[in-house]
Amino acid sequence: MSEIRPNLVLLGFMGVGKSTVGRGVARRLGLRFVDMDREIERKAGARIPEIFATRGESAFRALESEVAAELGGRDGLVIAAGGGVILRQENLDALSARGAVVVGLTGDPEVMWERVRRSTHRPLLQGPDPRARFMALHAEREPLYQALRHRIEATSRPTAEVVEAVAALYPYT
Ligand code: S3P
Repeated sequence: MSEIRPNLVLLGFMGVGKSTVGRGVARRLGLRFVDMDREIERKAGARIPEIFATRGESAFRALESEVAAELGGRDGLVIAAGGGVILRQENLDALSARGAVVVGLTGDPEVMWERVRRSTHRPLLQGPDPRARFMALHAEREPLYQALRHRIEATSRPTAEVVEAVAALYPYT
């Protein structure tokens, strides 16, 4: 009997650990890991900073929605979404298709900031006061993550525990 195993989608702010947790969850559940940002880069033939610099954020968001639609039509994936995927309802609708389990990772923004402050590949944090920008974006998006049905606190305990908590939300064997 071949059984379809729906996707598991991880949403959350920059630095919350979507990729690290996602890889662990994929291993734990025997699903394939996909990082949305890498898919966008593949499709665009350019790295994210370059997409923002040459085509602008709105072109990036359009690519992001295309990739959300494509991945939402597949099965058996653990998808680490980019931090801004939550901004468009159409992305959430696409990624929730086919019985996918959507999980929001939340946590302490100070911990997340420490994780990303030295990164050079996040164009939203390359301006004059990146910390203020980070905190403002976090405050703006936090209510959107909080509105998701499944939420897991991801910055106050070891990754292995977060992986277990996320995997426990996946009801398909
Ligand atoms: C973004 C988050 C990034 C990346 C892009 C925009 C955002 O992904 O998609 O830089 O709007 O929060 P991560 O959440 O993986 O850093």
